[in-house]
Amino acid sequence: MHKTIYILLAILLLATLSACQLKNDDMSITIYTERHYDTDQLLYDTFTETTGIKVNLVRDEADKLITRLQNEGEDTEADLLIIADAGRLGRAKELELMKPITSETLDLQVPENYRDPERYWYGLTMRARVIVYHPDRVDSSELSTYEALTDAKWEGRIITRTSTNIYNQSLMSSFIELWGEDQALAWATGLANNFARDPEGNDRDQAKGIVAGTADLAIMNTYYIGRMLYSSDPNEVSVAQTIRVFFPNQETTGTHINVSGIGLVKYSEKTEYALKLMEFLTSESAQSSYANANFEYPVHPDVLPHELLLSWGTFIKQEIPLSVLSEHSSKATMLMNQAGWK
Ligand code: FE2
Repeated sequence: MHKTIYILLAILLLATLSACQLKNDDMSITIYTERHYDTDQLLYDTFTETTGIKVNLVRDEADKLITRLQNEGEDTEADLLIIADAGRLGRAKELELMKPITSETLDLQVPENYRDPERYWYGLTMRARVIVYHPDRVDSSELSTYEALTDAKWEGRIITRTSTNIYNQSLMSSFIELWGEDQALAWATGLANNFARDPEGNDRDQAKGIVAGTADLAIMNTYYIGRMLYSSDPNEVSVAQTIRVFFPNQETTGTHINVSGIGLVKYSEKTEYALKLMEFLTSESAQSSYANANFEYPVHPDVLPHELLLSWGTFIKQEIPLSVLSEHSSKATMLMNQAGWK
């Protein structure tokens, strides 16, 4: 009788041990991501085929994923976090949701200006926040810099989204870094004075507002133009065909850029697998389809962007470290409110 119990206990112990072993050897990683493109899935499938590592995706809005990671703490299933905007990536770092990771390959594939200096996150794709305009009402020769948008000639002719939006907060943060707080505040005040309406809607709505005649100029991210141009909605296609893109500050401080990026979750126990995927997504072969899925610029220095982006030509970029965008973000929000930018 006793012997049977011992045997049963031994079996139970072995089963528990092998279950633990299986958990540690579980060839999978989990990504919390705000991206939702079919082409991304194809890349993950290729990654799984070549490495045997399965990729589980949890998709949600960036801020919700950040909150979820905060709530889950060390119990999280997440190994990697993929979100847009260096301001948000910096916030995830400040909230201690990620840990640094280094590799020579990553350093080669992601240039210094597109990664966190302490390697808490790496850029995956790059976008520019440009001026778009209606060619019937504005001539490109009238455009020059973000600063010039405060000129009285643009009164009642500009639209952009609200100051609660991270893209505008990061844009403002870049000016705090370049010019200091006083000048950034003066710029935001001058811009808000020229608004054609109280800020509303997303970036696409600004482009639509230009074509609808609400305004002549807007500030928006480059990839939305591509997404509208290749949209299934004929109205979006027509709007994107009508508007024109202008890269401001080409003779001064460059056009404001930002990234979407990836970071290793602090409590991940799968550093090796996570690193493999980070290296894969930033590799020359993956970068082009990864960036093209959302009409973004690849971060890999040797990879060309989509032909639409190529047709706009190359442009001079702001040269500030992207990590400062999150450092200035609460000050940026405060100053934009002070400026009357709703
Ligand atoms: Fe966006």
